[in-house]
Amino acid sequence: MTRTRRFFAVLDEALQYTFDHFSFEESLLQARGFGRLTQHKSLHDDIRSGAQAMKINWDVVSPKLVKDLMAQIVAHITQADMEYVGHI
Ligand SMILES: [Fe+2]
Repeated sequence: MTRTRRFFAVLDEALQYTFDHFSFEESLLQARGFGRLTQHKSLHDDIRSGAQAMKINWDVVSPKLVKDLMAQIVAHITQADMEYVGHI
């Protein structure tokens, strides 16, 4: 496997993990009655959309695009996810 193919395989796995995690998180927040679930899910959807666009066409993926998406995910975890900590 070339380094490029290995990179995209790892990226694909990371994105799938992110999608799975978002689904789990949304189920958990729904079960706990988190009042801002719709808004939180919308934030997940923004990230999902950007990630899905990459998965549809790997040719558009650039280092900057990956870096920006990862920064968006990290910012989500460190900021938006902190809003529900008291609800789980
Ligand atoms: Fe989240």
